[in-house]
Amino acid sequence: MTVRILLAMLRPQHWRDENMAGRAIWEAGAPLSRYSQVAIILHWAIALLILFNLFTGLLHDSVPRAVFAFHVSSGITVLILSVVRIFWRLTHRPPPYPSDMPNWERGLAHLVHFCLYASMLLLPLSGWAMISANPPAGSPGAAYADSIKAPKPPAAAAALPDANKPAAPPSAKRRGPPMFWNLVKLPLIKPLQDIGRTPEGVAAQKEKHEQIETFHGLGGYVMLALLFLHIVGALKHQFIDRQREFARMGIGRPGRVG
Ligand code: HEM
Ligand code: HEM
Repeated sequence: MTVRILLAMLRPQHWRDENMAGRAIWEAGAPLSRYSQVAIILHWAIALLILFNLFTGLLHDSVPRAVFAFHVSSGITVLILSVVRIFWRLTHRPPPYPSDMPNWERGLAHLVHFCLYASMLLLPLSGWAMISANPPAGSPGAAYADSIKAPKPPAAAAALPDANKPAAPPSAKRRGPPMFWNLVKLPLIKPLQDIGRTPEGVAAQKEKHEQIETFHGLGGYVMLALLFLHIVGALKHQFIDRQREFARMGIGRPGRVG
């Protein structure tokens, strides 16, 4: 069912049909106050993935590595689905707000939605840039970065024959290439990766990596704040203003406007 709807999104005929159906109901004066099924599925799929990413990102020191491994795939999926979502939003009319909704609330809702869309693109893009800003595996830059990262062995260990030396700590080892859902290799952003291809570029790349990491981390808190506003707004409309707010996003029966 979900797959059929997602595939239907790829057919221009479907966009026309849905727009025309929406317009016909609109013109009859009683549109359903609900987003299209595709928009609803995308909203909740993206929301679940983002919540997973915020959870694994903010608690990444206490989350098992095997779970954090999905942070990258989930984030890139958010990026892909958000591009589809934004395209869908620009080509489809959203359900109208209740006519008695004050202008300031409409403005605030639009502003928060706009900022949410921006963070749905910028957070995954900055994550992708962050993991790209590392020396390419096998390059002289990678060997140099590893050599300055590896802690010096204590004098006693250095004196041991090779076979008895303790294994290098994991931080000194290159991990494999990042994978997308363990299926395909995730392509990295080459210009960022290439900065550290030679030992001379490693320090500049590290600085860039740290700047992007700070942006990504702060972005997580900004998104959390936006989500707080978003959810408080939805709860206010549903329970204080007694509108069928959740039904607009597919939870419960939608009302009619008119
Ligand atoms: C990571 C989580 C979430 C993100 C990124 C997100 C994002 C968005 C965005 C961008 C819209 C605007 C739709 C448009 O283009 O007009 C929207 C609408 C909406 N969201 Fe969320 N949302 C999230 C979670 C939630 C949750 C947990 C709820 C439930 C309380 C919720 C309820 C709604 C409702 C009711 C609307 C319709 C707003 C309206 O037009 O009246 N969302 N969401
Ligand atoms: C919706 C998408 C995403 C959200 C909400 C998100 C959120 C976060 C947050 C809040 C952190 C913690 C930052 C800190 O403690 O400083 C984090 C860390 C991280 N994120 Fe994301 N992220 C997303 C997408 C991505 C993507 C697409 C990638 C890579 C392709 C990525 C890679 C990372 C990495 C490697 C870290 C660990 C950084 C470190 O070691 O401090 N993230 N993420």
